[in-house]
Amino acid sequence: MFLLAGTDSRCARQIWTITRSKSVCKPASKDFYVTLGIDRFAQGFSLANNTNLGLYEELKRWPERQDRWNSAMSAMALQIDFEFIVQSLPWTSYPPGTIVADVGGGNGTVSIGLAERLPNLQFIVQDTSETVSGVQAPETLRGRIRFQAHDFFTEQTLAGAQVYYFRNVFHNWPDKQCIHIFRNHVPVMRHTTKLLIDDFALHHPLTVSPFEEFRKR
Ligand SMILES: C[S@@+](CC[C@H](N)C(=O)[O-])C[C@H]1O[C@@H](n2cnc3c(N)ncnc32)[C@H](O)[C@@H]1O
Repeated sequence: MFLLAGTDSRCARQIWTITRSKSVCKPASKDFYVTLGIDRFAQGFSLANNTNLGLYEELKRWPERQDRWNSAMSAMALQIDFEFIVQSLPWTSYPPGTIVADVGGGNGTVSIGLAERLPNLQFIVQDTSETVSGVQAPETLRGRIRFQAHDFFTEQTLAGAQVYYFRNVFHNWPDKQCIHIFRNHVPVMRHTTKLLIDDFALHHPLTVSPFEEFRKR
């Protein structure tokens, strides 16, 4: 079930929560890419740069670009409207120790900001091993934020989180890969578990300037 939990009209961000529906959800099959005959890395980036590699595969080959990318993510995170995220779920009603998985959480900037505001929550930031290696939370939050290498194209290994939070993750991937990421979370979904998607949404056609429309796309 998809529920719109909030819209930030200034930058067309939206937050969606997904809970497990009563209908049967199929987990991802291990040979997903082979079955569908698709290229795992066929992204807009690959097409624009005439490469078979996706953005993140390309970054892996260039450690200094990977570092620059991570810094850029942190710089962009300075503009995050944390209140918008805090209002999207009844976070404060969760009991102490509730676990939030920040999937594709980069170097943890968002989890750090949320941990400062929501003392009842524990965060596990999952990202590629290149991104999380050596990253640490600020000392005061170290007991509540952990980092874990996890490829979201494999089945989710962290069971028991109350919320699986995806911020700025899905806009990087074509629909088929997004579906694969979702399916990898089916095995850990309980009826109260939430998938929280916090991402850019496209404007309705002809409601913004062509430049803004182009920028979003
Ligand atoms: C646009 S960044 C968003 C980072 C963070 N969620 C935020 O909002 O600042 C997308 C993140 O997805 C991560 N990522 C890409 N491919 C991944 C994969 N296969 N498994 C886990 N994380 C991945 C990247 O390393 C990057 O940190």
